[in-house]
Amino acid sequence: KDELLTDTFGRKHTYLRISLTERCNLRCQYCMPEEGVQLQPSENIMTDQEIIKLSRLFVSAGVTKIRFTGGEPLVRKNIESMIEEIGKIKGLETIAMTTNAIALGRKLERLQKAGLNLLNISLDTLDANKFTIITRRLGWDKVKESIDKALSLGFNPVKINCVVMKNINHYEINDFVEMTRDKPIEVRFIEYMPFDGNRWSDQKFVSYKEMLDIIKTKYETIEKIPEDHPNNTSKTYQVPGFRGKVGFITSMSEHFCGSCNRLRLTADGNLKVCLFGNDEVSLRDLMRHGVSDDDLLLIINQAVLKKKASLGGNNNMHEISQNKNRPMILIGG
Ligand code: GTP
Ligand code: 5AD
Ligand code: SF4
Repeated sequence: KDELLTDTFGRKHTYLRISLTERCNLRCQYCMPEEGVQLQPSENIMTDQEIIKLSRLFVSAGVTKIRFTGGEPLVRKNIESMIEEIGKIKGLETIAMTTNAIALGRKLERLQKAGLNLLNISLDTLDANKFTIITRRLGWDKVKESIDKALSLGFNPVKINCVVMKNINHYEINDFVEMTRDKPIEVRFIEYMPFDGNRWSDQKFVSYKEMLDIIKTKYETIEKIPEDHPNNTSKTYQVPGFRGKVGFITSMSEHFCGSCNRLRLTADGNLKVCLFGNDEVSLRDLMRHGVSDDDLLLIINQAVLKKKASLGGNNNMHEISQNKNRPMILIGG
């Protein structure tokens, strides 16, 4: 049973990302088209019980970390009680969430009690007006409040995800680095990735190397920190003397597929073995047809064995941008 989540390249998948909803309370340019996306009827979305069942099943097969994503996970109803159930699963060490934090403030304490112990907040600008341009909605103040709340509740680190886009927010990089001076914040600069309907172009792309160069214009030294989590998506740095850290997620210029430990469940119940691959299998339908746990695990194993070495079988970002995939909002990152 130990090997069911190991692929043909020897990668052990111990990290499951579960998308809880296709909906979002923002409309970020890099994630979805202005008009939004076609939502599925609600009966196609996994129920709480189905998500809990699959969480137990994946943990029984070796998953130790579950991250909730969306859309925006916090727009899903009753998320607190569902996470309370998942928090009871033995063997699950990390319960994480990636959120835009608009609706986090009121819910965070209960989520933390339920077992949420890793929080990644998306924030791409420190300018409230720019926030409205990027997200096509209001809410910058709420995000800032939520970040403070997370810090005061002891989340350490609080990770901040910043998708860097040329001439949109790349000139704010050093302002973000400054946030790491005396708070346990890990700012992660993310290379802009192409997905359906997200306005990606290489004109807007800023590589990790370029980001580092920008940082070096302000900070004389920034040191690379040896990796303590070999499967991490990010390369981690620190300005000497600063409390927080700076990370780079270099999916495009230097992919990290060789150490990938991630599987995904879409909100409509498909297992997606790679962010950039479009091979999917509906675990929802299998469950609704009463397939046994053992058979489910075998089908999951078959999907894992089909996982490609890197980038879902694409060779580079231009190929990715030309191939069909879901829009980001329907994957969850
Ligand atoms: P930690 O668990 O805190 O390390 O977070 P994470 O980086 O795994 O997850 P998060 O949701 O914060 O994602 C941050 C960025 O990394 C997003 O842009 C994701 O799309 C990207 N990302 C997450 N997982 C993968 C992956 O498997 N492959 C690639 N290429 N990018 C990923
Ligand atoms: N490229 C890189 N990162 C993206 N995210 C959303 N869309 C993109 C994209 N096109 C990030 C979000 C969120 C995480 C789940 O993925 O900012 O933090
Ligand atoms: Fe894993 Fe696919 Fe992401 Fe590469 S692109 S790190 S293989 S999910």
